[in-house]
Amino acid sequence: MSLSNLVKEKVKKAYETCGFAEANTLVRLSDRPDISDYQSNGALSLAKQLKQNPRQIAQQIADILTQDSFFKQVTVDDPGFINMVIADEALSEKAFSILNTPQLGYERETQPQKVVIDYGGPNVAKALHVGHLRPAVIGEAIKRIHLFAGDDVIGDVHLGDWGLPMGLLITEIQERQPNLPYFDDSFTGEYPKESPVTSKDLETLYPIASQKSKSDEIYLAKAKENTRLLQNGHRGYRALWQHFIDLSIAEIKKLYDPLDIHFDLWRGESHVHDRLQKMIERLTEQGVIIPDSGAQIIPLGKSKTGNDLPPLIMVKSDGAVMYGATDLATIEERVDEFNPDSILYVVDARQGLHFEQVFAGAEKIGLTQKAKPEHLGFGTINGRDNKPFKTRDGGVMTLKMLIDIATNAALAKMNAGEMGRDLSETEKTEISSIVGVSALKFADLMNERMKNYIFDEDKLTSTEGKTGPYILYALVRMKSILEKMGEKAIVRENDKMVIRVPAERQLLLRLYQMPESLQTAYDNNAPHVICDYLYKLTQDFNLFYHDCPIKGTDETTRQTRLTLTKYALAMGLKMADLLGLRVPDKM
Ligand code: ARG
Repeated sequence: MSLSNLVKEKVKKAYETCGFAEANTLVRLSDRPDISDYQSNGALSLAKQLKQNPRQIAQQIADILTQDSFFKQVTVDDPGFINMVIADEALSEKAFSILNTPQLGYERETQPQKVVIDYGGPNVAKALHVGHLRPAVIGEAIKRIHLFAGDDVIGDVHLGDWGLPMGLLITEIQERQPNLPYFDDSFTGEYPKESPVTSKDLETLYPIASQKSKSDEIYLAKAKENTRLLQNGHRGYRALWQHFIDLSIAEIKKLYDPLDIHFDLWRGESHVHDRLQKMIERLTEQGVIIPDSGAQIIPLGKSKTGNDLPPLIMVKSDGAVMYGATDLATIEERVDEFNPDSILYVVDARQGLHFEQVFAGAEKIGLTQKAKPEHLGFGTINGRDNKPFKTRDGGVMTLKMLIDIATNAALAKMNAGEMGRDLSETEKTEISSIVGVSALKFADLMNERMKNYIFDEDKLTSTEGKTGPYILYALVRMKSILEKMGEKAIVRENDKMVIRVPAERQLLLRLYQMPESLQTAYDNNAPHVICDYLYKLTQDFNLFYHDCPIKGTDETTRQTRLTLTKYALAMGLKMADLLGLRVPDKM
C-alpha cells in the first residue's frame, strides 16, 4: 500500500472511532510541507454539516492519531485542519515494502482502461518539421504514463497518406517519367521492387507539384483525377504509392528512433478506405449523410459551448473524401477492432474544431457509447519573436534541424568543459546525442500541454535550473555513486534504513509522493506533472548529496544513504522512462 493510502486508512479509522464513519476525510499531501507531511481537511465540512465547532472535531481526531506511533506529531490548526508529520522510523520502515515494488509505490484505484492513442501524425512524402515534435514526444509520454498505470494501450501513428498530396506526387512523377510501368494501363506484369524515386526526391517533388497545382488548373485537375484513381484501386498507382509509404516510413523512423518514439500500429488514413466507402453508402441510405451543393455532409448540432457546429464534410463536390471522413471511419474501425474505453488524439490545438466535428459525427452515429474520443491539444513551439519557430532566414525548421541544434548544443557544452570532462571524443559524440535529445524532449514536455512555448537554445542544455541535463546529471551521479561504492542498484530486504538528517527525510518523503504526481499526470494526460516531480526529486537528491556524505560515516548511515540512492535512482530512471528520456551512464 502506498504511503498516502496508509495515512488515509489510519485517518479514516480515527474518524470512525469518533463516530464519523461517513465523513470524507479529505486527506492529501500537505499544502505546508514546512509544518506537516499530510493534512486532513474533513473536519471543516463535517462541522458545517453538524453545526459544530471544526476545531473541536479536528482535535478529537487528532487525539486518536497522536496515540499511533506512526505519527511523530499531529496538530490542529485554524480553522480545523489536521496536520500530520510521520515518524522517521515509520518512513524508514515502510521503504522496502512500498518502494521496492514493480510500480514503486503506485497502485491503481480504478479499473484498467483500453486506450487507443493517436499521435505523431506525420505525412507521407513530407519532411517532418518542428510541428511534428510535440505530437510525437507528448503522445509517447502519455502512452507510457497510461501503460505504467496499467492500461492496455495501442499507439497508432495515423499517417497522412491518402489525400491530394498523393495524387500530386503521382502526377509529377508521371510528367517526368511517363514510361514507367505504373502509368501503362496495359501492363499486367509485376511492378518493380525498387522505387523509381528516393525519399529525397519525394520531399523535393511534393512542393514543386503543390506549387504547380496552384497556378495550373489542368495540372490540378489531373492530380485530383489521379487521387481518385489511386483511391479507387488503380493497380499501377497503388504500387507506386506503396513505394511512397515504404520510403516515408523508413525516413520517419530515422527520426523517431533516436527520439525513442515507437508505435504499435503504422496505419494511415488509407487504411479505412474500404470501410469508409461502406460507411458513406450506409449513412446515405439512413439519411444521416445528405447532399449539399454537390458535396455530401453530415449536419451536426450545437457544440459543447453552444455554438452551431459546421457540418462534417464527408465527400467534397469533386468526389474527394475528406480528412474528417477518414477520421470518422477510423473511429468506427477502432471501436470494431479494439472496443476501447477511450481514443486519445494528441494533435495540434489548432485542429480543435476538426475534432469537435468528428466527435459530434461519431456521437451522432452511435460510435461513442463506450469509446470516449478526446482531443489532447497542444500549443506551438515559438521563436523569440513568439511566432512559430523558423530557421534564421525564415524557412521551415525541420525536425532533423531541431534535433541537430540540441545535439550540437550538448556537444558544445561538453567541449567547453561544462559537462563530459572525463569523456573521450567518441564518448562525447555518443553521449551528446543522448543528452541533446533528452534536453529537447524535456524542454518540450515540461510545459503545460496547451501552452505555446519559446524555444530557447541556450537554456535547453544548461546544467542548471529545470532542464533535461540537470536531471540527467543527477541520475548519472546516482549511478556513479553506486558504482564507486561497489554497489548494485538493487535493494535487499536487509538493507537497513535509519534516517536522521533533514535532507535524507526530504528525499525519502519525495519518493513516497510519486503516486500523487502520477495520478495527476494520468488524469489530465499531463506529462509536465511528471517533469515537475522528476525535477523536484533530483533537486532533493542534490541537496542530499551535498548534505549527506557516504564515506567516513558509520555503517548504518552508510547503508541508509546508499539505499536511498538506490531508491532515488530507480524512481528517477522510471520517471525519465515515462517521459521517454534516455539516461547516459556518464556525462
Ligand atoms: N497528419 C495530420 C496533420 O499533419 C495529423 C493527423 C492527426 N490524427 C488524426 N487522426 N487526425 O495535420
